[in-house]
Amino acid sequence: MLDVQAIRKDFDILGREMRGKPLVYLDNAATTQKPRVVIEALVEYYRNYNANIHRGIYYLSELATEKYEQVREKTARFIGAPDPATIIFTRNTTEAINLVAYAWGRQYIEPGDEIVLTEMEHHSNLVPWQLLAQEKGARLRHIGITEDGRLALDDLDEIITERTKLLSITRMSNVLGTINPVKPLIDRAHAKGAICLIDGAQGVPHLPTEVLELDCDFLAFSAHKMLGPTGVGVLYGKREWLERMPPFLGGGDMISRVWLDRATWNKLPWKYEAGTPNIADVIAFGAALDYLEQIGMEAVRAHERELTAYALEQLSRVPGIRIFGPRHVEDRGGVISFDLEGVHPHDIGQLLDAEGVAIRAGHHCCQPLMERLDVSATARASFYIYNTEEEVDRLVEAVRKVERVFSRAVN
Ligand SMILES: Cc1ncc(COP(=O)(O)O)c(C=O)c1O
Repeated sequence: MLDVQAIRKDFDILGREMRGKPLVYLDNAATTQKPRVVIEALVEYYRNYNANIHRGIYYLSELATEKYEQVREKTARFIGAPDPATIIFTRNTTEAINLVAYAWGRQYIEPGDEIVLTEMEHHSNLVPWQLLAQEKGARLRHIGITEDGRLALDDLDEIITERTKLLSITRMSNVLGTINPVKPLIDRAHAKGAICLIDGAQGVPHLPTEVLELDCDFLAFSAHKMLGPTGVGVLYGKREWLERMPPFLGGGDMISRVWLDRATWNKLPWKYEAGTPNIADVIAFGAALDYLEQIGMEAVRAHERELTAYALEQLSRVPGIRIFGPRHVEDRGGVISFDLEGVHPHDIGQLLDAEGVAIRAGHHCCQPLMERLDVSATARASFYIYNTEEEVDRLVEAVRKVERVFSRAVN
């Protein structure tokens, strides 16, 4: 089990007061807080060895290059990828998915091909494929969801077919918390000759991830949702695809040789990292990976499972509450979307803020899912390693207060 009190001491921000009350930060699905070691790694780079990487032949540049490339190795280890050259640093999950949509999609998608997504995808895993499908005359198909927010797998044979070229799905829903059974879906898609991208923006920060076991062709995730800084994303890809695909962005660093009218490409992974990368934030991400590795992802998952079970039990007793997503904690991560009868989720968010409880209210970049749930928005609490049962109690008490205020206003 995690020593949560010890962990909390590493996050100065968690000691802050909001609106005169101790902060309860429950918007971790949007971005997590950063431990002191991550912030120090960032400052240390700028203070002690700031230099551009790869091109320098002087000590500072060599040191910065070494530190940057070490994080690639750590990232590979963290997700069980044997070859660090298959790790590409991007700005975020969104850019990682767009990289695949441009580089792979524009080469390999043809008119009539089908791209299979789900109804619970984030806009980042919908819009890049819409752009590609419109350009190429391809067709988008969507796996639906059940009433309790799981993937509806009954008519899968009709959706994943010989026409499917790509299956791109989220490992965990950022709205429903649903943990999707991605492995059998990947196997099914492969059996039809399709490739698979996993949106790991929510999965990688909260669940142990082994890319070789999953056998996904691509995996995208963001550093800022796993204790790291903003501005760093990761694309893992199978070497065969990264070798075969054309580059995404052109410019410095991604080339091997340039003539006035043409160029050849650098080796992996640099072929996909054009221009000066986000050196400082990648290096600080390394400190976040060390921090999570020290805790262990099994322990992260166990802590969140316990907290989520407790929160589901406590929240479900609030009059007028509706909780979205799977009932069983085994099927879901630490994300709980809910609404209160007769109260707009934005009002819930604002009233909780007055209690020092930070949650998110809105469509969570999942407008098609909101439509499927027949709501315009939900309130969403999401947990991470530093959250406690006491904080869940503060959340529940604040939600009860909202319910009391509004039911009194109505009656
Ligand atoms: C499931 C999922 N996919 C993709 C994203 C996009 O991540 P980013 O904004 O870091 O690109 C998010 C962010 O909330 C997400 O939850």
